[in-house]
Amino acid sequence: MRMLIAGGAGFIGSNFVRYMLEQHPGYDVVVVDKLTYAGNLKNLDIVLADQRFSFVRLDICDPAIADVVRGCDLVVNFAAESHVDRSIEDALGFVRSNIEGCWRLLDACRRTGVQRYLQVSTDEVYGSLTASGRFREDTPLSPNSPYSATKAAADLMVQAYVKTYGFPAIVTRCSNNYGPFQFPEKFVPLMIVQAVAGDFLPIYGDGQNVRDWIHVADHCRALDLVLHKGRDGEIYNVGGECEMKNLDVAWRILDLTGRPLSLLRMVKDRPGHDRRYAVDCSKIKEQLNWEPHWDFDHGLVETIRWYRDNGAWLDQVRSGEYREYFDRHYIHRETTLTH
Ligand code: NAD
Ligand code: TYD
Repeated sequence: MRMLIAGGAGFIGSNFVRYMLEQHPGYDVVVVDKLTYAGNLKNLDIVLADQRFSFVRLDICDPAIADVVRGCDLVVNFAAESHVDRSIEDALGFVRSNIEGCWRLLDACRRTGVQRYLQVSTDEVYGSLTASGRFREDTPLSPNSPYSATKAAADLMVQAYVKTYGFPAIVTRCSNNYGPFQFPEKFVPLMIVQAVAGDFLPIYGDGQNVRDWIHVADHCRALDLVLHKGRDGEIYNVGGECEMKNLDVAWRILDLTGRPLSLLRMVKDRPGHDRRYAVDCSKIKEQLNWEPHWDFDHGLVETIRWYRDNGAWLDQVRSGEYREYFDRHYIHRETTLTH
């Protein structure tokens, strides 16, 4: 089997590459990645010398993607601009990579006749929940951020290819991931690196927004199962069954790093900030016998350990562009109440 993993140098993609090479000794894995600020070959250090692994630096919007797809049996698409706050600043890159890029890759796959295409999507396409209820696969799409709108558009394009061409594709929609190699602009790693450094933890709004946290390893296991045992044309939700308020997550991180609550800084809210995400993943549990294994507290301890142990990686990803983004986004951000 030859598998193409688009966006395999990012957070979840690189975890998935390592997982697949471990789980499937007979597979060849090709990663195609544009290496944006979020993509990093250092994330793949451990597999670079593996004979079964190869890497192509390319934008999936480039028509040359057709040459990369040729000869591949399975294709998994992680490639996307993925940070909501950046999509609010400027959505063009999101429209390009997440919609046009998905279409370009999908179309190349259809023309070359791959056996299966898996689009890695997000629960954010369903929009925001109030205090009750959970997202099911048949919950109507109602994205609120430019990021989630582009992901929803991609999902619809994949489903159109299933209907129109009988193309063998599946969509997964997962909740918020955390774990090693996550770029520290996202909530969990940002809170960890700020806490470890004894620096402030920026909490948007009232800190009561809820996310359903899943360890990236549980997500990778779900994707492997869906890819091999899922049914064409289906959508599968994946979730951690671990709903947490942001402020509670930040408190735990402060506790685990031995830092004081005074590091919390309540800041101006994100515009259009989704209140609550919670995923009903009974379909994948019942049909594919999957369930999340990682306990959140244990996962957090391990993740903090990973960030502490990987200072060189952190220094590298936080140099240059990251510093500019951080200063632009946080340094002059209006502070609301303090804790
Ligand atoms: P990430 O930002 O860490 O990685 C994205 C990768 O895609 C990077 O390596 C980047 O260089 C690459 N990329 C971006 N645009 C590209 C393009 N045009 N051509 C080729 N490569 C390109 O993101 P992530 O957190 O690993 O998320 C991966 C996927 O999973 C995304 O599609 C995201 O929507 C989805 N997802 C993420 C989460 C989460 O919590 N992080 C949850 C559910 C779904
Ligand atoms: P994030 O990691 O950006 O993921 P999502 O795609 O779910 O928005 O943010 C997770 C939650 O944390 C979300 O409710 C926004 C909040 N948040 C903060 O409070 N402060 C921050 O600095 C960031 C990046 C996020």
